Amino acid sequence: MPTIKLAPSILTADFGRLAEEVRAAEAGGADLLHLDVMDGRFVPSITFGHTLVAALRKETSLPFDIHLMVVEPERQVPFFIEFADTVNVHIEVSPHINRTLSEIRRLGARCGVCINPGTPLEAIEESLAEVDQVMVMTINPGWGGQRMIPAQLEKVRRIRSMLEAVNPRADLMVDGGVKASNAGQCVAAGANILVCGSSVFAPGTAVAANLSALRRAAG
Ligand code: DX5
Ligand code: ZN
Repeated sequence: MPTIKLAPSILTADFGRLAEEVRAAEAGGADLLHLDVMDGRFVPSITFGHTLVAALRKETSLPFDIHLMVVEPERQVPFFIEFADTVNVHIEVSPHINRTLSEIRRLGARCGVCINPGTPLEAIEESLAEVDQVMVMTINPGWGGQRMIPAQLEKVRRIRSMLEAVNPRADLMVDGGVKASNAGQCVAAGANILVCGSSVFAPGTAVAANLSALRRAAG
């Protein structure tokens, strides 16, 4: 089993003190920083673009995991690539997914494919051999702080077993509603990277303590 990584999402962080929040996550033992880019089209809300990511790049040495929740993600890839460890694109808006994935790699980052709860797993089957990671959405994307849809863990299980056959080194992430009470189930289902937003950044709580609780729960 690969090492379990925690990837805090800044979506529910205090944007007025964002650099401080990010440094607290780094000091608290985060492995990656998950950055949720939303365009108001693929999902209803708009978050931020590459200029904010560029500013954060100066504040931390954590690898950046960019989650593009945008239509025509291939048009955004060049804006984010220089800051990214991994760029993740959604299958639902990528008619030529394998071309987009190989373009991300050609430009110098790791590539990931994301799949929404309502999208059948078969949609990404032909891409599993081409990716560095798969991101299973355990909520309908658009907002932080939603409850996990537990049925999606069955999809995680099936993808892990398919990856074992075609791409055993690929990472498998879960994104949405991860907290200490379900982190163990996510890992048991085969996930090795846990995105955690509101379970890390929540008003009145300490980022480092939240990360430690998640780490213990993830095992
Ligand atoms: C939602 C995002 C997630 C999410 C994480 O569309 O992709 O990264 O906000 O936040 P929590 O952990 O609060 O669901
Ligand atoms: Zn995300």
